Amino acid sequence: MTEKALWWQKGIIYQIYPRSYQDRTGNGIGDLWGVRERLDYIVDLGVDAIWFSPIYPSPMKDFGYDVSDYVDINPMFGGMDAFDRLLEDAHKKGLKVIIDLVPNHTSDQHAWFKESRCSKDNPKRDWYIWADPKPDGSPPNNWLSFFGGPAWTYDEKTEQYYLHQFVPEQPELNYRNPEVKQAMLDVIDFWMKKGVDGLRVDVIWLMMKDEQLRDNPPNPDWDGVNPFNSIIHKYNMGLPEVHDLIKEFRAVLDRYPDRFMVGEIYQPNEELMTYYGDNDECHTPYNMQLINTEWNAKKVREAVDAYEAILPEGAQPNWVLGNHDQHRTASRIGRDQARVANMLLLTLRGTPTTYYGEELGMTNAVIPPEFVQDPPAVNQPEIAHIVGRDPERTPMQWDDSPNAGFSEAGVQTWLPVNENYLYINVKEEKEDEFSFLALYKALTKLRRTEPALNMGSYRSVDAGDDEIFAFVREYEGEDSFLVVLNFTNRIKTLDMSEISRTAEIAVSTDMLSEGPVKLGALIMAGNQGLVLRI
Ligand code: GLC
Repeated sequence: MTEKALWWQKGIIYQIYPRSYQDRTGNGIGDLWGVRERLDYIVDLGVDAIWFSPIYPSPMKDFGYDVSDYVDINPMFGGMDAFDRLLEDAHKKGLKVIIDLVPNHTSDQHAWFKESRCSKDNPKRDWYIWADPKPDGSPPNNWLSFFGGPAWTYDEKTEQYYLHQFVPEQPELNYRNPEVKQAMLDVIDFWMKKGVDGLRVDVIWLMMKDEQLRDNPPNPDWDGVNPFNSIIHKYNMGLPEVHDLIKEFRAVLDRYPDRFMVGEIYQPNEELMTYYGDNDECHTPYNMQLINTEWNAKKVREAVDAYEAILPEGAQPNWVLGNHDQHRTASRIGRDQARVANMLLLTLRGTPTTYYGEELGMTNAVIPPEFVQDPPAVNQPEIAHIVGRDPERTPMQWDDSPNAGFSEAGVQTWLPVNENYLYINVKEEKEDEFSFLALYKALTKLRRTEPALNMGSYRSVDAGDDEIFAFVREYEGEDSFLVVLNFTNRIKTLDMSEISRTAEIAVSTDMLSEGPVKLGALIMAGNQGLVLRI
């Protein structure tokens, strides 16, 4: 029965931020030639698929999320030639390739927008969202950009505003125009034909906007920190019409075998679930709760249980610890708890996604002011430490040579290499049997081989201690596992004899403990997590 599962149901996704993985051309920016050389490392990690953040031609105002051509690869990353070879090699090595689709907005340098902004009667005018100023000349409504300031930019030439919820160089497409929709369906078809295995769809819940462009209501619960949160984003996000659009995207994928679509969505459970549709929208909408939930055992257990309880029958769960928009796990919760978090990620039910470097326990880097380049940080220096994303995007740490093996010595890398590369790096961690990397690989190996972990049921259990999160994974006719996670740095003695009298340690976060244990008096060290075969 296990064979029936599709790759994305059983598999692990590894996210690569292409600018930061491996520089082969010596310009301080990563490229696809570089990734291609690292494929064996990725296979060896025990993951099944790579998701590439955008690799399209782009002026890089939002580091690739501003696309100027959807059917080509940025020459800076090696162009289509590098991509084709990478895809071929990845497939030969058994890896699937997921690319980022950024349908909500283009670059202002995209040919479509260049036309659109020419004149009010240009045939592509209506491909974007243009609106007249208010009588006093101010923007059409009170919508805000995620990156600070209004979501509207005035175009002198045609005397209208255009909408952008990110930087002004990211004008938003108008999916109420059937031509726009068809153009994007053609883009999807192009990549499916090429043999790409899946799409991660950027801000999928933002694609439709209120037709009347009504003002958003104020947020009475605003904490006064990030102005973006001062309004409730009622009319520009999560509109009911977006589901029909997603269904059309999915229908293109479904014309090809085994393709996968995951949508980026930051929404509470009830709304998140609607993005499965009737198994005709996302195969799974990204579930960011391990990032957003306060890191304590009780809260995390509640979050996992609530998500499990609300999932529609047969829907594929997924879990994420980090991505290119979020501070590194090891910086959010500490490196010791990050080991526990990775154990959780890789033992929960559902597709795990790992952001590059998280397998090493990479941390946020300190970014000197002259290197800060992420738009939300540049635009809002007072809250840069909260909204800035440069710290989690620094070069992959391969070894302890200058530039950490990411780029040649002496090259100025686009973001500085984190200083801790001297001891947090692949080479060092490969040689250390107790390292973060060793733990990560032990967990992926176990997950791959044990049906209970990659397919089995999930049930949380009481450990008699609120600071411990424990759960059981079971699959008919196969070994079951009890996962016990200590969210504190204090030693704990637990009685879990109701589950079983004895158990065998399969993986411990310290990579040291092994052998049988008695569950009637289970001793857990501080920051320890155990996967126990029961
Ligand atoms: C998504 C991406 C983020 C990007 C934004 C605009 O949230 O993950 O990196 O800045 O969309 O495309």
